[in-house]
Amino acid sequence: MLQKMIIKGSKPLAGEITVSGSKNAALPILIASIMAPGRFEFHDVPDLMDIHTTAGLLRELGAEVDHQKTFVVDSTPINNYEASWDLVRKMRASFLIMGALISRFRRARVSLPGGCELGLRPVDQHLKGLQCLGVKISEEHGLVIADAAALRGGKVVFDFPTVGATENLLMAAATAKGETVIQNAAQEPEVVDLARALTAMGAKIEGAGKETIRIQGVESLRPITHTIIPDRIEAGTFMVAAAITGGSIIMKNTPTAMLVSVMEKLAESGVSFQETADGIKVVGPEKIRPVDIKTLPYPGFPTDLQAPMTSLLTIAEGTSIISETIFEKRFAHVAELIRLGADITIDGRSAVIKGTGGLLGAPVMSSDLRNSAALIIAGLAAHGTTEVYRIYHLDRGYERMEAKLALLGADIRRAPQDD
Ligand code: EPZ
Repeated sequence: MLQKMIIKGSKPLAGEITVSGSKNAALPILIASIMAPGRFEFHDVPDLMDIHTTAGLLRELGAEVDHQKTFVVDSTPINNYEASWDLVRKMRASFLIMGALISRFRRARVSLPGGCELGLRPVDQHLKGLQCLGVKISEEHGLVIADAAALRGGKVVFDFPTVGATENLLMAAATAKGETVIQNAAQEPEVVDLARALTAMGAKIEGAGKETIRIQGVESLRPITHTIIPDRIEAGTFMVAAAITGGSIIMKNTPTAMLVSVMEKLAESGVSFQETADGIKVVGPEKIRPVDIKTLPYPGFPTDLQAPMTSLLTIAEGTSIISETIFEKRFAHVAELIRLGADITIDGRSAVIKGTGGLLGAPVMSSDLRNSAALIIAGLAAHGTTEVYRIYHLDRGYERMEAKLALLGADIRRAPQDD
């Protein structure tokens, strides 16, 4: 049964929450567990739909998975090299299984991801990179078939930094014969966490988090115990929630060093931050100042916080411009924010947001993970009741968001959606 979130807005948030483990760090690291036979233990894996899908993917390949407080994978019994359309369709990150299967078995069959709500999202850079390592790629009936019998190190120059392709290449190169150099690599903290996990498994990686990564291939890898980094996007989302309600919250387990560009923009809009013994204190201003933002690869402003930030700027005192440079289509929240009374126009890849006196609650429809968070955030500030439909998008990537918001005093609850 579909569900919706019902929010009664205009209440400043107050109290304390703990940031969960990072979804986008956990996904590739859990997938990397198939690269060595044995028992892996992962801590701080968030309890989310995308993580359940990853567990399903690992099981489909033959691994044994147990996800209680600790996420345990035994990858010894893996006997299947194919990731089906069913799994890739549910979660594009399933395509990361490609590099992991190539590393361990020298072959893979993975369904080609289609477009998605964020636009075309091709995988050409993943395939180009793998080919630079001697992998033969063919496509048949919607499947990408990789023959990596001749896997060896190579030089990969990405056309632009891509998180997923960098991760796929890190995994494939870990056990390739010789040295791989990746240039124009993605520098996101999630790439660094994957490199940290692979290094603990025995891989030889230098430069993760920088533009050039060097990998010396090793013969084999071993199982590990690993703790996932905190989720910078969840943390940023709660900072925006505190800001838009003029609230004051304390956030534990917040990776502030990974949020420099976000905290700078929030500070420009009037939010104040204070390190305390319990965590970072975030205090929203009485009046939000307008700011201009351009999404960029890390360490620039993250595209995953563009939608929540748009919500915040709808009530700023003046006009803000947000430019989306990462995804071709990531403004689906705009039409819904307009239903709440926002004044936004889209000009190509930019949104021009004229601050209004306030938002008014209404029913709205979410269509992806981050825009569902943005609509909830808008609902927290709106006068009256906002209902956010199709909340299953939120459940893919935010752990117990309504419980955390309720803990901060928000009036929010989940209810069945009729159709
Ligand atoms: C990761 O996606 C994240 N997902 C995304 O988070 C995030 O928005 C994105 O990085 C950017 O930070 C995971 O980590 C699971 P990219 P990914 O490859 O790896 C284009 C969320 O809400 N491109 O860095 O798919 C691509 O279309 C999600 O949690 C190609 O053209 O992102 C996009 O425009 C959404 N060809 C740009 O590059 C390729 O072969 C950046 O994509 C690969 C990518």
